[in-house]
Formats: sequence, structure tokens, C-alpha cells
Amino acid sequence: MSRVLFFSSFFKHQKKSLVPKPKVHPHLMFFSILSNFGTGRTYSEVFAITFVANVALFWAIFGAASVVIGLLAKKYVSKGKTSALENFYNMDSLPDVQQMMMNESIAKPNGIITMTENDQKHKLLRYVESLCSWISWLSVASLPAWLSGFGMMGVSQGMTLSLIIIAPRFLLSLMRNCPLSIIENNQGGALHMHVFMAMFKLHPKRVVAGLVLLVLIPTFMNSFTYKSCFNDHVDPTFEWKFYGGKYIYSSALLRSIHLDKVCPPGPPCQLYATLPFDTATSVFLNIHTHVDVKEITINYETEDAYNTNKKFSHKVVSSYFIQPSQYDSTGERNIHTILLEKLNPDTRYMIDVFYDGKSQKQTIYQTLPSSDSTASFNLIYGGDLGFSAASTTLSDTAAAQDPRAVIIGGDVSYDDGHAYCYHSFDLTMKIFENNINSKVGRLVPLIVAVGNHDVGWNSFAKVNVTVDENGPSYYSGYAQHYPGAEAFTAENALEAKIPAVAQRKTYHAHMLGKVLNVALDAGYVEGYGGVQGEWLKNISNAYKSSPKMAIYHDPIFAPCKDKYGLANTEQGLIHWTPIFEKSGFMAAFEHHTHYFKRTKALKGRIPQEDGTGVVYLGSGSWGVEPNKCKPEKDTEGIYASFGNINHIWVININQDTNKVHYQAYALNGTVDTPFLMDMNLYSTPSI
Ligand SMILES: [Fe+2]
Repeated sequence: MSRVLFFSSFFKHQKKSLVPKPKVHPHLMFFSILSNFGTGRTYSEVFAITFVANVALFWAIFGAASVVIGLLAKKYVSKGKTSALENFYNMDSLPDVQQMMMNESIAKPNGIITMTENDQKHKLLRYVESLCSWISWLSVASLPAWLSGFGMMGVSQGMTLSLIIIAPRFLLSLMRNCPLSIIENNQGGALHMHVFMAMFKLHPKRVVAGLVLLVLIPTFMNSFTYKSCFNDHVDPTFEWKFYGGKYIYSSALLRSIHLDKVCPPGPPCQLYATLPFDTATSVFLNIHTHVDVKEITINYETEDAYNTNKKFSHKVVSSYFIQPSQYDSTGERNIHTILLEKLNPDTRYMIDVFYDGKSQKQTIYQTLPSSDSTASFNLIYGGDLGFSAASTTLSDTAAAQDPRAVIIGGDVSYDDGHAYCYHSFDLTMKIFENNINSKVGRLVPLIVAVGNHDVGWNSFAKVNVTVDENGPSYYSGYAQHYPGAEAFTAENALEAKIPAVAQRKTYHAHMLGKVLNVALDAGYVEGYGGVQGEWLKNISNAYKSSPKMAIYHDPIFAPCKDKYGLANTEQGLIHWTPIFEKSGFMAAFEHHTHYFKRTKALKGRIPQEDGTGVVYLGSGSWGVEPNKCKPEKDTEGIYASFGNINHIWVININQDTNKVHYQAYALNGTVDTPFLMDMNLYSTPSI
């Protein structure tokens, strides 16, 4: 485990106004003041605080209602029929006339009381007052349950606090229903204990039932909220109709009702590939299994040899896995990572996943072409998926391009890096399995840059969080480099090993044919400069002659006004674009703002007409609802195209002609003008 303190040197020295505010949707909360709670907190904590604020509103509304209705009820008290508590405390809070009748009945056992119209109104108002009072009190008692549900305090602490909050209301209820004669008979001891004992003698069943409820209510509250997840961009029309709406709440209890066990004994519940630096000869297989699976054997063979010999001549036996301890019993699993290396470039392999004494799954994996080949191959670039109709439609589009890799610019599944939201991660990974891998007929590897919804906080948020087997999912879900890759000297000199979760970094590089692709961290864990900026400079310098592409989450070039992104733009222009422009970057794929945009080829914000310069493409709307913003006036002539549409980019790298072809696809086909870039012009950088 490692403690990661998030900061950037920039953050310490900039004006506070440049620090992004949290992006909590306004309709989620009743108190706009909550928008100040985002910096330094995870989304999960902000959601917990939002729930608490909403509950506090219930407390205030119903508490005020009970007071007002209580005062109103007082007007209808018949002369001489004052309540026990009214007499005792000289205040009006006895709930109903029935009690007064009972008091008088005790005094006059055979007496018959006739309720007047005023008595009936008083009785009704007292019921309403009592109801409002209970709702108000229960609202407050639920606060610890929400906090424990989102992991901000222990469950036992939550239950204890809920109990402590609700117990006085129970005693008050006894007081309100206690005959006046009993209260007046108190001999100077503790009044509440006197009343409790007297009421227990008078109504033992009611008091015992009340005590049982006193325990059950906090237990139910904290059980219901146990392991709460609240997130968005998970389209409920697929599997989550129960919860409805754009935002989805689930807890361990609700997930146990609405989900089958995610990883039962048997074949893997998730199988996806991620890539280390050398994509032509190596791949990480990420396999999620039942918790009893402790060891996996991967048998593999080139497809040609397997078709001829029907046997595997290579195998890797791996017992490396992590078991997220915070997942609930519905989602519990072992996450295995297996590294295959020394493979042949541009070669199809038959992969056999073997455990529990039998072959569990077979698939095909194809390595990427080497840098010196004349291959032509397609890549998919996009980001901000979630689980939606657009996600699946554009994934079908991606599959039709027979891509050799899918490169995602963050916000993959909107699980917000929270272990309790594992179901979101699973849903999106199933899109890759069902809409890409199954249709392409092989395992298409992923490269993932980090986004705010992959870790669960905003860029520059200064969040202090533990990275371990429970996530954030960006760490626990994807192995994308060998240990030590962040201290770049020469990627090929690194020992080929699976990085432990705490060793995983949010910036890494991959050779895609002859193109060096760098995935960068837009201020979530690392600042733009500092160690990441140095790494970017070093690796760009080491691969001088390789044409390059970059992918990251927050855009540097944002045609729509975005005050939250000002710091990203500023930091990108200071630390990254000068490197991009000097060291052979053709394109930078940007995301997060959920619209389509294409800049002209730029150097220093000035469009280039000589076939050089960096194009900035984006900005992240593979599956999420597109931003409806209108672009600002483009006074610098930076932008070539804009649209409020879902899209992905299909990139063809032709190493024979040395050209890269860029084409965007929207939901109903190609969009925007395709364009070519000459890799020869990006192979002689001046860094
Ligand atoms: Fe984002």
C-alpha cells in the first residue's frame, strides 16, 4: 500500500481562482454551498456530504412542520383537558386527545368521554405533528448511516450514532404518552427512568416493541446503506431500471437483490488485455475469477501452429492476483494479471485460460506490428464511455474497423475509483467484450489514460488517498507498464514484470508500430510539470525519430468556455505543448468536455500550413451525453471543426506509405473531413 498525496507545484503558487471547483451536478443537492466541498475530497465523499445535506433538509422541513403543527394543535385543546406534558413542562407536546381521555379514564374508570369537534381536530393535528417529528428525527438518525455507507465512518460507529440519536425520541414518546398521575408520582429520581419503568408496567408489549424498533431502525438504516455507490453515466435502461434516472444509487443490499453473483465458479467473469511499452512482443492479460481461483495457467501458441498441431507449446503459470477486500459478496473476485512476453510481432496467438483442472476460455490475441514493418493497421481513440446506447453503438463502429488497439482518454466506466461501484466497471468492460472483442473475433488490447471518473476526484484536487487492491480502479484494473517505467531512462532496459498495484503510474508510453503513444495524467495524481513533465521530455528525446501521439483527459484546447478547465489549459500550454511541437507529436487526443472538436495543426497556437504542427482532437463523448455548449468566437482561427455529438476517432497507421489517416465516426457514420498526416515530417524533431 502506498499513501499518495496529490498536489502539483503549480497548485501551491497559483491564484486560488484558477483551482477548479468540484463538478457536482446542481440538481443533486439542495445546498449550493456544497460546491465548496470538492477540493481535497473524493467524489464519494462529496456524494456522502450531498446525501447528508439532503437529509438535513428533511430534518429542517419536518422539524419545523412539527413545531408549527404543534402550536396549531394547541388552539384546539378544550378547556380543562390539558395534557400530562403540557402540565408538567408547561408546554404543548402531548400527541393526542386519546391520551388525555385515557388519563381521565384512569381517574374515572367508568367515565365516558365524548370528543368534541375541537378534540377531534386536536387529535388529528397531534398525529400529524407526531408523524413530522418522527420523520425529522429519523432523518437525523440516518445521517451516520449515509456516512458509514460511503465509507466515511465504520458501520458499528454509524449504528451506534444512529441509536444514540433516535433513543431520545423514543424516551420523548414515552413521556408524551405517560399518564399525568405517573409523572406526578415521581419521588425525585430520574424522571425518564421513572416514566420508562412505569410505562413498562402499564404497557409492556408496547414498550418492548419500541425497544426492538430502537435497535432495528439503526440496524436497518446502516444495513441498507452498507457499501453505497452513487454514480452517473450508467444508463439504467439496460440493467438498472429499478433505480431509474440518470444517477444511480446502489448499496450492497440492493446489488445482492438486483445482480447475480458477478464472478461465480467457472470461466472468467472478465478477460481483457492491456499493454506494456512493447506492444509488438508483449501483453498483459487481466482475468477476473471466482475468489477460490488462486493460480492460472495460460497456454498459448501461434494460431497457425495451433491449427496445424492442435496443441500449445508455451505456457505461463501465474499465481499473481489481487483480491479487493472492499467488494461486497455479490462482486467479490480475484483479479489476476498475467504477462506474456517474447511474442512475435503482428502475429495471432491462440490463448487458453486454464484453471480448476480444465480449460475455462479460449480466445485469440494479435500482437501489434513492429516499428520496422510495412503494416497498415487501425487504432481507435476515444474517451468518456460509461454504459449507454451510444457506448455500445460506437463500440460496434469501432469493431467494424478491426482495430489493433483501443486507446481511451479516461472516464472509462464512471465508477469514480470507488470499490463499491465495481458494477460500473464491469458493465463497461462487458461492452468491450460483447461489442468489440466478440465482433472482431479476438481480444483487442486497451490503453487507458486517467480521467477524473477513473480515480474519483478533480484535477488539482489535492486528495490524499490510499492506493491498494481496492482501487482506484485505474490502478487495480489496468497494468500498463513495467515497474520503474516512470523513472524513464530506456523502456526496453526495464525488467519485464507485472507492476504491483501501488507501483502503477498514471502516465506511460507504448509503441504502436512506429508511433510512440504517450498517455498523460492531466493533474489528477501528477502535475503537468515535475516528474511527469521530465519523463515526457526524456521519453520524447529518447524516441526522437518516432512520430508521436498523446492522449490525456482534460483538454488544453477547449472551444466552449470552461472556467474549470483554465488551469488545465494553462498547465498544458506551459509544460506539454512546447514538447509536443518540438518532438514530433502529430496529434493529441483530448477528452472530458464531451463534444467533438478538431483544431488545425498548431504550433504556439498558430495554425501551420506546411503539413507540420500538432492537431488537437476530441473531446471525449464516446458514450456520455454530448455537452450542448456553444463554442466561443474563435478569434485565433484555431479550430477546424466542432460538434455536440458522440464520436470516436479511427486512426489508420500505414507504415508502407508513412501516412496516418484520421477519420471521426459519429453514431450514424463518418463525420467531419478526414485528413492525412505525413509521418516523415514528424520524424526529425528539434528537441
Ligand atoms: Fe472527465
